[in-house]
Amino acid sequence: MHKEELGDTHVRRDRERFEQRLGTIIDGRYRLDRLLGWGKTSAVYEATHRNGFRAALKILHASLRTNADACERLLYEASLANVVTHPAIVRVLDDGITEDGCLYLVLEHLDGQTLESFCARFGGYIDLEVLAPIADVLMSALTAIHECAIVHRSLEPRNVFLTSDGEVKFLGFCTAKSLHAGGPPTVRGTLHETPAFMSPEAARGAREEMGSWTDIWSLGAILFTALSGEHVHIASTESELSTASTGRARSLAAVMPDLDTEIIHVIDRALAFEKDARWPNVRMMHTAFTQAVAAARTRSARWHTLVSRAPVEIVPVEMTPVDTASIDQLKVPIMMTDPPPQTHRRKGHPSRRAQVLAVAAAVAAVIAATVTGRAMRASETRSASAAPPRERAALQAPPSAMPRTPSRR
Ligand SMILES: Nc1ncnc2c1ncn2[C@@H]1O[C@H](COP(=O)(O)OP(=O)(O)O)[C@@H](O)[C@H]1O
Ligand SMILES: [Mg+2]
Repeated sequence: MHKEELGDTHVRRDRERFEQRLGTIIDGRYRLDRLLGWGKTSAVYEATHRNGFRAALKILHASLRTNADACERLLYEASLANVVTHPAIVRVLDDGITEDGCLYLVLEHLDGQTLESFCARFGGYIDLEVLAPIADVLMSALTAIHECAIVHRSLEPRNVFLTSDGEVKFLGFCTAKSLHAGGPPTVRGTLHETPAFMSPEAARGAREEMGSWTDIWSLGAILFTALSGEHVHIASTESELSTASTGRARSLAAVMPDLDTEIIHVIDRALAFEKDARWPNVRMMHTAFTQAVAAARTRSARWHTLVSRAPVEIVPVEMTPVDTASIDQLKVPIMMTDPPPQTHRRKGHPSRRAQVLAVAAAVAAVIAATVTGRAMRASETRSASAAPPRERAALQAPPSAMPRTPSRR
């Protein structure tokens, strides 16, 4: 199922509802300037304190204001930042109650976008080289979280934030659970905003079966989707996806057959159906991922060296008239510099090697056309000097007076 189709119908309505708070002053101190985003429990606003300090206010949805569990969880999220000391955990500075009785947190304000929006900017997926440093921080942060005996339980691309300074942050800890006694109450209902990133045990609603392995599955799903642009499970409706989520994940190789097998193995193992078949902990997954990325880089560097050293064969061009219409149909692909280069083929897309060969063939055809065109012009000039005066004037007319050849895309 394509990600954009999920829940899109509600987005505009929710946005309008949350934007109604804009311009209001919270607790006589914070002016709400902009809606930054929202999740299952809260809406987050960019706010300015009366002393000019810029912060993010995370306000519990009005529908949950009398829900004691939801309030307790939000306060638990606030305390987490002091339990787990890792740069990927957002600092929580304060808390309070809005005039209409909703609990809110004051968070450090982050400039940037969620991993979901970031991938969307590049057509839904990003290259391994771009994902690798993000995954590196996620795994080191998740190791720190698990070592504090906390499980996040709703990891997904919307809960990963990439700042404009290049930092990676985890959001949405209000569904987190402490494995120590005395943690916050168990959340009722679905923990994730979409079933696409739910482990089979989470999709079944088996809370007692959830643990660090549940986060490992979701992390695998985040990496799967970021690299391939597809969800782990194939489904065309939300309810189909909910059902599929309780089943086995497909291999990343089914979507990206050319991706390095070590990378596929790391992600596939995180997505194993049985929890005992997954990585025993994030630290081990992290080590395996780092090694797999290093191996992929070595392989790709070797391939690039081979390509750049390949001898160029110069083929003599036959001087025959060229059909300009067929040249105009020739589309030389233009590489955009903004999206990072995609080095691994997704199913149904040409491989990188095939793309390089296509570009080389196109360039050779353009050179052939140019050489032939020059030869033709030379022979036209020769016949022009032999032509009678009127014909000679027509043939020697300036280029602007000649019919234009449509430009090539
Ligand atoms: N500190 C922050 N700075 C900027 N934007 C944020 C911040 N915290 C959250 N957001 C935005 O708000 C959205 C919802 O926040 P989140 O904490 O995930 O809420 P929930 O717990 O309800 O899912 C995020 O996806 C992100 O876009
Ligand atoms: Mg969230």
